[in-house]
Amino acid sequence: MDQRLLRAAVVGAGYWGPNLARNFAASDHWELAAVCDLDADRAARVAGAHGGADVETSLAALLDRDDIDAVAIATPAGTHHPIAMAALRAGKHVVVEKPIADRTSAAVEMVAEAQARGLVLMTDHTYCYTPAARKIRELVANGDLGEILYIDSVRINLGLVQPDVDVFWDLAPHDLSIIDFILPGGLRPQSVAAHGADPIGAGKSCVGYLVLPLPGGAVASVHVNWLSPTKVRRMTIGGSRRTLVWDDLNPQQRISVYDRGVDLETQALDSLERRAATISYRLGDTWSPALEEREALGTMVGEFAEAIHGGRVPLTDGTAGLRVLDVLEAADRSLADGGGVSPVRTGDAAALELAGERIGGGRA
Ligand SMILES: NC(=O)c1ccc[n+]([C@@H]2O[C@H](COP(=O)([O-])OP(=O)(O)OC[C@H]3O[C@@H](n4cnc5c(N)ncnc54)[C@H](O)[C@@H]3O)[C@@H](O)[C@H]2O)c1
Repeated sequence: MDQRLLRAAVVGAGYWGPNLARNFAASDHWELAAVCDLDADRAARVAGAHGGADVETSLAALLDRDDIDAVAIATPAGTHHPIAMAALRAGKHVVVEKPIADRTSAAVEMVAEAQARGLVLMTDHTYCYTPAARKIRELVANGDLGEILYIDSVRINLGLVQPDVDVFWDLAPHDLSIIDFILPGGLRPQSVAAHGADPIGAGKSCVGYLVLPLPGGAVASVHVNWLSPTKVRRMTIGGSRRTLVWDDLNPQQRISVYDRGVDLETQALDSLERRAATISYRLGDTWSPALEEREALGTMVGEFAEAIHGGRVPLTDGTAGLRVLDVLEAADRSLADGGGVSPVRTGDAAALELAGERIGGGRA
């Protein structure tokens, strides 16, 4: 397997891009070759912090270079599609910040383009690369929690009211991508109901709630809020055997697993097959798995490199990004419908179809 150092360019040197640049520069797999931004000063500041990286202000000039293997896109969501498509067409592997695009149809094209060209397209679902999310995925896969009954995710803070997106598109990709990552079948709700509020007159939802019925009668809820004076990042995952709470703001005990819950037993009452239910409460121990302290983005850029070297799909590929977009778009339709239940379309199926058509010589 080719294990040479790969060369990355970061496009977008605003708030998040410098974090990507720092992690590429620090990685054993990568060399940070260039930083590109429309704003030359920003690009120069970020490149300057990492020694030899070049400064680029023209995406076309950057993509013309044949010494760049991969491009990391940290520009506003509305620009992800044109930048990613240009990079893929120039033969570069691509990692795109969340959300992968601003609409499903754009992401479907990105996934199809990458597949047709045999390139890696990854979504930076950063939280999936935290030690906590990886441990939760493992516990769920091993059956330690039993059958998943509910997921309740809260992400609230005094946040920036973003110019281009509402609170759902800004914050909920984190919760949705984590749910997609930890559930063995991924995020596949049939529908979503969304309620949003704009109590400060910002022109977009600043407080939001999503309810997503999951297969098998389970349910997930997501609460996102830019207006909360207290910061909470907590996900509760209730299982038939145990319940797990991930409190991301508690570094001493990010994960607590409760061996407590409710058991429901039914017994036959009489010969007419009438049944009665008895509820009992399990009151067992609480434990906290040890987690390494490791920056998620360091693991993310490592996964990107390994997917490229191994010619394999990364853990959070383009279709993971698409599943998140499917829910966000359904949430938009629900909001427009006053909070009604909106079916979730499955864009990942559409992407695979489109890729198949392209590879098979169909639509170009
Ligand atoms: N993974 C995470 O936890 C996380 C956190 C914050 C932001 N993000 C994501 O990162 C992305 C960027 O967010 P941000 O807050 O850094 O935005 P930002 O506005 O602070 O920075 C965006 C930068 O992109 C540059 N830019 C815009 N169009 C460009 C183009 N065509 N070519 C080159 N440069 C261009 C702008 O000049 C700006 O410097 C968004 O998709 C956001 O959702 C992810």
